[in-house]
Amino acid sequence: MLLDALDSNWVAPVGPDLDAFEAEVAALADRRFGVALSSGTAALHLALLELGVQPGDDVLVSTFTFVASANAVTYCGARPVFIDAEEATWNMAPDLLEEELAQRLHATRPMPAAAIVVDLYGQCADYERIVPILERYRVPLVEDAAEAIGASHRGRPAASFGEAGVFSFNGNKLITTSGGGMLVCDDERLATRVRHLATQAREPAPHYEHAEVGYNYRLSNLLAAVGRGQLAGLDERIERRAAIRECYRQVFADGAGVDFNPIAEHSTVNHWLTCITVDPEQAGFTADELRLHLEAADIESRPLWKPMHQQRAFAEFRARLDGTSDRLFATGLCLPSGSGMTDAEIDRVMSGVVEFLGRRG
Ligand SMILES: Cc1ncc(COP(=O)(O)O)c(C=O)c1O
Repeated sequence: MLLDALDSNWVAPVGPDLDAFEAEVAALADRRFGVALSSGTAALHLALLELGVQPGDDVLVSTFTFVASANAVTYCGARPVFIDAEEATWNMAPDLLEEELAQRLHATRPMPAAAIVVDLYGQCADYERIVPILERYRVPLVEDAAEAIGASHRGRPAASFGEAGVFSFNGNKLITTSGGGMLVCDDERLATRVRHLATQAREPAPHYEHAEVGYNYRLSNLLAAVGRGQLAGLDERIERRAAIRECYRQVFADGAGVDFNPIAEHSTVNHWLTCITVDPEQAGFTADELRLHLEAADIESRPLWKPMHQQRAFAEFRARLDGTSDRLFATGLCLPSGSGMTDAEIDRVMSGVVEFLGRRG
């Protein structure tokens, strides 16, 4: 598709692949509209702006996430308020969300202007509980499904919840355009406004006319062609990642104290990354010891996302915590999970783990 796009001479910011990519991704998310952008972060930023987030506003954000979710809030001059994760999905805990909102009713704190709820490691948050809570308090929802394309919650696809959903096509994601993202939504006005802001807010006129400040956030037609090619193989990629998880499960099957990232009932996941948590008392080793062993064998594994409330960049902001994300960060590890891994590469990781477990007796 990339070569077709080159041949067709649409080496320009707009073109048929861009339109088709938007329609295909929107359909996957069961949304009416898609706006292809230069990154998932850009999509979060424009979603918040268009939902009316103003400087000084509070925006609720999952604390257990990649930094982009929180950065987008600060780009608007707003203040993230971090909510801890739940064990069942590792995503925003509905109980803590409810507590935070209920407390504001009785305090003088204004209601948050929006909430960014993240679907971490390829699994949707518990929207069956989260959506009614946010609706009750009239807080608009942005679903950060950057990591979750192809996943679903109770039969509804990732990015279909709330006012807007966001995907990332960054290089490490299941579907990549090397860099890119998309905002999907059902409101035509929102899609039109986001498309306008993403193209420097240029007004329709023969000259360059601008009534407001815009951004250079549009995805190019060429990269959309890359995305379309990738999208056609989404199911195989998910299958491959599921098979990788299964391999790792077998390796750890006999070991006590090692758990995998949970898959909640009513969830289908895209297996973006296979992660484990290690209880050192039961397992007899720590996640970091395993990481260092693999590193010595030139196998890269990584700690889970460091929660935003632990980051110096966000230390000043309010957080509602119960220790879940702290524990996950302290005990967790992401194992190599790329869909492009060969069988030999998977075997090499498994051998590395087996050797490590063997040494530990
Ligand atoms: C949860 C989450 N949100 C947002 C983003 C931002 O996406 P991008 O890198 O396309 O800006 C990412 C990943 O990169 C992510 O993992």
